[in-house]
Amino acid sequence: MAIKKKIGFDIVIYDSFEEMQEGDRMLLKKSVEARNNAYAPYSKFQVGAALKLENGEIVIGNNQENASYPSGLCAERVAVFYAGAKFPNVAIKTLAISVQSKNSEVLEPAAPCGNCRQSLFEYEHRQKSPIRILMMGAQGKVVECPSVAAILPLGFDKTYL
Ligand code: THU
Repeated sequence: MAIKKKIGFDIVIYDSFEEMQEGDRMLLKKSVEARNNAYAPYSKFQVGAALKLENGEIVIGNNQENASYPSGLCAERVAVFYAGAKFPNVAIKTLAISVQSKNSEVLEPAAPCGNCRQSLFEYEHRQKSPIRILMMGAQGKVVECPSVAAILPLGFDKTYL
C-alpha cells in the first residue's frame, strides 16, 4: 500500500542581524566583506559566503563570473571547494551567505542555487554532521536553516553509486 509522507523543516527568521549571537553575526559580517569583493561585472549580483569550521577557521568565497558565462562559479561553491582543499578533514559547522545587487535593493535573503545545494550536500554527507545555513539579503533580516539536507530533500549522495 502506498503511504504518504511529509518532508519538511523549520526555519528561524530573525528580523535583524542584531538578534543573533556574536559568532553568527561575525560570520555574516565576513560574508558581507566577501560579497563586496565578488567579481560580478555581468550580473551585478554579488554573493558572499563564509564557512565556520570545527577548528575555528573561517573560509570565505564569493561569486566569480566569466565572459563565457557558464565558466563562472557561485560564492558557496568557491567557499566549500576552498575549505575542502585547505582543510580536507575538518567539519563545517555553519555557512553564512549574503547577497546584494548593484541594480536593485535585495531585501530578502537568497538561498543557495540547486547546483550549490548539491555540492554542499556532498560535504555534509562526508562529515556526517549538519551544516547550519544563515542567509541574509543586503541587510537586516536573516533566515536560518538547520542543514543542507533540509533544503535539498531527496538529495543524491554516494550511497547510490
Ligand atoms: N550566485 C551565487 O553566487 N550563489 C547562488 O546560490 C546563486 C547565484 C551568483 C552566480 C552569478 O554570478 C550571480 O549570482 C547571478 O546569478
